[in-house]
Amino acid sequence: MKNPGIRIVVLLILQALWLETSHSEGPASPKINEELSKQEAIYQSTGEQVPEGYTIDRSLSVYAEGLSSDFDRTLANLGPKDRWLDIGAGRGQAILDYYTPDYDLTYPEGQERRGEKAQAVAMSIEDRRTPHWRQSVVSLGGKQIQYLFNKRLRDYSLEELGEFQLITDVIGGFSYTENLSRFVEKVLGFLELNGVFYTVLQDVHSEAGTNPPFYKDSPFLTEIANADGAEVKVCSWLKSINCVEVTCELKTHWNPPVEAYRIRKTCNDVTVPALVRIDYEAGTPPQRRYQLSD
Ligand SMILES: C[S@@+](CC[C@H](N)C(=O)[O-])C[C@H]1O[C@@H](n2cnc3c(N)ncnc32)[C@H](O)[C@@H]1O
Repeated sequence: MKNPGIRIVVLLILQALWLETSHSEGPASPKINEELSKQEAIYQSTGEQVPEGYTIDRSLSVYAEGLSSDFDRTLANLGPKDRWLDIGAGRGQAILDYYTPDYDLTYPEGQERRGEKAQAVAMSIEDRRTPHWRQSVVSLGGKQIQYLFNKRLRDYSLEELGEFQLITDVIGGFSYTENLSRFVEKVLGFLELNGVFYTVLQDVHSEAGTNPPFYKDSPFLTEIANADGAEVKVCSWLKSINCVEVTCELKTHWNPPVEAYRIRKTCNDVTVPALVRIDYEAGTPPQRRYQLSD
């Protein structure tokens, strides 16, 4: 280009286009790729390297405090033929707590029906099994508890995992995934008809819209907008999924507060309105922005 004026204009346009793509959806975006590798480093962190906010050992009672109020009862009502999947299980402490004699003392009502208790599957990207987990596998025997790792939820097929009556996710894949709509689609695919998915999100605009973002001058941790840029609450998006019944419950005693979601599968023709990832910043959990796709 001989004309320096035109050359500068072309360079400015190219720079603007590059900036635009680096902030948008797609594997070619250098910014997103950098954030995804930072996130991978958090998953693979061990010992001193595990960031302070990356909690991997929540007990079953902490699960019950954070999840919708009837989670307790749903778990206690599972029988020996039922299956429970905990996505993003960390060390699997909640599952280990379910098999203790203390659990039966706390929930004596369902004990007879529970019998040998449901089969439980813990899923984590990284292997966080402890000696306690390994001992429990031996003492419980068979396939009563299983720990799956090295893959994300999206990498499993229905043939491999089978169906579950109960699926939980406490600050696991639902809070960490970069593709929220595909994640929910997969979860519902593993849920039996009338099965329930219990999960939470921290620092999210609640259904009633009464809470501000937890950190001053920061956005909520997970945000969705429609094609015009207007806010779509996570609760409303979940309620727009076909074949589910959803309740959303704000729990302000968590720090930051969480919104607890109870999602029951009511028929098999599930359709999840697709979300496009607009932004993803690594963290514990990451900050994510999505837009409803046309
Ligand atoms: C902060 S830990 C939470 C552990 C546990 N739920 C607790 O509360 O102690 C996050 C967990 O989610 C897992 N995780 C994140 N994204 C996931 C995905 N897409 N599929 C499966 N596990 C995932 C991580 O590997 C890790 O086990």
